Amino acid sequence: MPKALIDLFYLAAAILFILGLKGLSHPRTAVRGNLLGSLGMLIAIVVTLLDKRIVSFETIVAGLVVGGLVGAVMAYRVSMTGMPQVVAVFNGFGGGASALAVGAALEEALKGGFVEEISTQFTFAAASSALIGGVAFTGSAIAFGKLQRLITERPVLLPGRHVMNLALVMICLGLSVWLIMEPTSSLPFWLLTGVACVLGAMLVLPIGGADMPVVISLLNAYSGLAAAGHGWVLNNSVLIIAGSLVGAAGFILTALMSKAMNRSLSNVMFAGVGAVVATEAESEDIYAGRVKSASPEEVAMLLDGCRRVVIAPGYGMAVAQAQYAVADLTSLLESKGIEVEFAIHPVAGRMPGHMNVLLADANIPYEKLKDMDEINPTFRQTDMVLVIGANDVVNPKARDADPSIPISGMPILNADQARSVVVIKRSLGPGFAGIPNPLFAADNALLLFGDAKKMTMDLMTALKES
Ligand code: TAP
Repeated sequence: MPKALIDLFYLAAAILFILGLKGLSHPRTAVRGNLLGSLGMLIAIVVTLLDKRIVSFETIVAGLVVGGLVGAVMAYRVSMTGMPQVVAVFNGFGGGASALAVGAALEEALKGGFVEEISTQFTFAAASSALIGGVAFTGSAIAFGKLQRLITERPVLLPGRHVMNLALVMICLGLSVWLIMEPTSSLPFWLLTGVACVLGAMLVLPIGGADMPVVISLLNAYSGLAAAGHGWVLNNSVLIIAGSLVGAAGFILTALMSKAMNRSLSNVMFAGVGAVVATEAESEDIYAGRVKSASPEEVAMLLDGCRRVVIAPGYGMAVAQAQYAVADLTSLLESKGIEVEFAIHPVAGRMPGHMNVLLADANIPYEKLKDMDEINPTFRQTDMVLVIGANDVVNPKARDADPSIPISGMPILNADQARSVVVIKRSLGPGFAGIPNPLFAADNALLLFGDAKKMTMDLMTALKES
């Protein structure tokens, strides 16, 4: 295939990636965006395969079949609540694959005796891929383990970890310089990959489970940069563009999520937030004798007198798959002349946009979903907030400037400012951050104990009978 034609197809693929990303920025256009991005990737892959330098079609087909099967099984079996773990695995594999492929390209160049052709661009990009890909690989593996609860979610704070990390960074820099200055052996490349893997684990181990979404987003950016480095090594423009887009999108998402929690990225990465575990005594202090529980019938009676209700959904709604029942409840309340809106916290659930996706799936109109900044000033004029399976995102403790509180400084939904608050959850158990929630013991709060889906349906039955 002529080079100009290949470049033209790559340009088309790059444009489709950008249009795809643009489409993903809104739920209404997200499906189309996904299709455009996939089409871009299909064009990029087919054109790369048609490029005559690709000779081992058997290996490629075998890789596609095995990878495609594993991916399809994972995608079908994983629940929405397990999506962050899947993203972590993909990031890790992406970063690791880039490092390995770059290593293979380096070995091939050395074996073929093309040492004089190994440019500084080649070695610089190879060193970057090894470093970033290695960090992304083990960092993602640790993030996966924490989210899957295979290892402790709490920060693992090894003594002298900052000095150790600094030493590892210095070793990585030294190995990179060695590789760039003397590109006659692959030893510095593989040593660099190994040390980067240790660094990735060391960087993520001290981060608490509640901060994993930010870390995964950052590792996503890293895996993109590793792929871009791979593109420089292979002189493949579409890989450079795709990797850079992933890198930029990952960094922007990381910044947005840090902002949503009112934390700096360095605070997320190095502060070891979440090391303090709330004791039972602390929970007892907050809840003892103050928590009032109610039955669905009692809540239905209160709802009958409401004019405006705000629903604040959280992780528990996702676990219970209660979104369809919540949609039915919304219609029922509206048929009674009650205004209903949804309060969407940017980190409610376990992944960015988690609540938007679930509620859109249940056909709740986008216009009813209000971002935190938009809904917060309206809580004082709200008769009732129905908190369905949310906890941390409505926890007033976040307002305390106490570094021992994992969510300190995170902006929250001001549900406590409403005239009444009804919280649907199964127990007084904590949310992801592991701390008690004073909202449950507030004067204006009632607890409706039970599974989110069952309780929402019981509430509907009681409303119909009232
Ligand atoms: P959480 O604070 O995690 O609270 C969820 C609550 O749901 C729990 O207290 C649990 O209480 C309840 N629950 C669980 N299963 C339930 C069921 N079947 N029915 C009813 N309730 C159920 O959730 P949130 O308020 O959405 O906050 C999200 C947290 O996760 C934040 O700390 C955030 O930083 C973190 N996080 C967010 C993301 C993103 S990007 N969204 C990713 C990872 C982590 P019971 O056990 O008593 O029922």
